[in-house]
Amino acid sequence: MILEMTGLSKAYDRGKSPFFAVKDVSLRLDAGDFVCIAGPSGSGKSTLLGMAAGLVSPTQGQVCFQGQDYRCQSDEERSVVRNQGIGYIMQGPSLLPNFTVLQNVLLPYYLLPPLKRSADPPVERASLLLEQVGMLPLASQYPAELSGGELRRAAIARSLLLSPRLVIADEPTGDLDEGNTQEVMQLFSRLAREGAALLVVTHDRAPLRYGKHLYCLKAGVLSAA
Ligand SMILES: Nc1ncnc2c1ncn2[C@@H]1O[C@H](COP(=O)(O)OP(=O)(O)O)[C@@H](O)[C@H]1O
Ligand SMILES: [Mg+2]
Repeated sequence: MILEMTGLSKAYDRGKSPFFAVKDVSLRLDAGDFVCIAGPSGSGKSTLLGMAAGLVSPTQGQVCFQGQDYRCQSDEERSVVRNQGIGYIMQGPSLLPNFTVLQNVLLPYYLLPPLKRSADPPVERASLLLEQVGMLPLASQYPAELSGGELRRAAIARSLLLSPRLVIADEPTGDLDEGNTQEVMQLFSRLAREGAALLVVTHDRAPLRYGKHLYCLKAGVLSAA
């Protein structure tokens, strides 16, 4: 078992009464699982993924990543777990503007505790990942010089640098054309075959065909697609 979410709900303050963005969601991912969740804007997708990554604390329910309950870990412990064990592709822009594409992809290495770091940064692996998402020719560019789709593909390469057991992707193909969507989803399929767990959300249903376990999220409620 890689990720286990049990009875998860998240309420935000909105006016007088709390507003539940996610309602009683339970989901379990084992090694090799490729889960796709489709849901319209505002259905709770990003909130659910935030809880899966330990970035958003649930109002109810619990999340265990590799057998560890996030509630039993400090913020710092969760950050360490997230950097090494989870590749999180955020919905919005997430590259650091003052670093090149290659330096951005190497970021998870620089965030490792010194004892876990190899002597040299894994430039070869970063380059291979950039090649797999068609971004190697742009490795020396800065984020301001890239299109939305290029930024997204660089963020995908960065999320995979440390070979995470779990990849969480928030609308990873939202700004990609059909060819790039296909390549990214095929890359995810291969990672799942190699034993990672994939949790991907999208607002459109097209990428669903790549997943193995399909769900819909509507007004915070998860159901089989
Ligand atoms: N930090 C927050 N505070 C208050 N309301 C929020 C917050 N984050 C999200 N929401 C609300 O929760 C609902 C679900 O948001 P979100 O999880 O971002 O949905 P999705 O990713 O599916 O578009 C939306 O109605 C949004 O306005
Ligand atoms: Mg979202």
